[in-house]
Amino acid sequence: MSQQLPVVSSKLPYKIEVEAGKKYSWCSCGLSATQPFCDGSHKTYKNPDGTSVMKSVPYVAQANETVYFCGCKHSKNGVFCDGTHSKI
Ligand code: FES
Repeated sequence: MSQQLPVVSSKLPYKIEVEAGKKYSWCSCGLSATQPFCDGSHKTYKNPDGTSVMKSVPYVAQANETVYFCGCKHSKNGVFCDGTHSKI
């Protein structure tokens, strides 16, 4: 398949209440149906050598808190929204 990744899954961040110590797997490709988290959809896309084009990004919550996960997938601040979505 040829599709430019990442795709914008949302032009707004996802507001998620995270639990201290819990591991999360943030979707970096934008294709997951379980946003903002990975559902393995990125595995559909392979480089010519068979390696994955993109991978999920692990995140371990440091506290019980509200996190704004990037939904546009173009943040320069990893899994977190940095406002880039307003320029897309
Ligand atoms: S949703 Fe991606 S930077 Fe805000």
